[in-house]
Amino acid sequence: MFVALEGVDGAGKSTQAQLLRKFFEARGRRVLTVREPGGTKLGEELRRIILDPESGDLGPEVDLLLFMAARAQLCREEIAPALERGDVVLSDRFLCSSVVYQGIVGGLGIENVLAVGSVATRGVEPDLSVVLDVDPARAHSKLDAGDRMELRGVEFQKQVREGFRALAEKFPAKIAWIDGHESVEQVHASIVAELESRFGLS
Ligand code: TYD
Repeated sequence: MFVALEGVDGAGKSTQAQLLRKFFEARGRRVLTVREPGGTKLGEELRRIILDPESGDLGPEVDLLLFMAARAQLCREEIAPALERGDVVLSDRFLCSSVVYQGIVGGLGIENVLAVGSVATRGVEPDLSVVLDVDPARAHSKLDAGDRMELRGVEFQKQVREGFRALAEKFPAKIAWIDGHESVEQVHASIVAELESRFGLS
């Protein structure tokens, strides 16, 4: 089982990843939790470069290749071996983020990003990507607006939100759309209900 949590910055993905981790561990499963970009030595180095305002204006194609390089190494070193062992993998962001941020908002195109993605991941893909939908105006107030990505403001985040909405409508079998405005516990329950109805967990 491989689940990715997706959504605008500040949507509560990491909190929900922790709750899901506890959910699976309580059922006796081993869980690998990762975040993107990052999770490997190379990935954390790339994360620093990508998020550093000093890196300047990099362009969506450069961002895409940096995120994908980090993802490729994460798949190779961590995700593929964990799935091979039968562990549950929870990722705070995955390929949908590249499709939305670089493909849709950045204008590189959904199909182009998916093509690069299939090279980077060698076909490793989430069983389900869960988009936590929140109004960016609310999500934004939780952020410190310090890194290169967060400096882009609420208007940008609104485009990201619409990008996730479009993607979820295009791939309903692979992407679940969850209202992230509810309480942390309610959002968690909604995610578990999605997993149960799709995969028959108990
Ligand atoms: P991060 O601090 O991890 O943000 P968050 O806490 O919201 O997850 O920074 C990741 C930023 O990089 C975030 O703004 C989304 C962006 N991003 C992309 O543009 N493309 C990608 O493929 C990924 C994984 C992230």
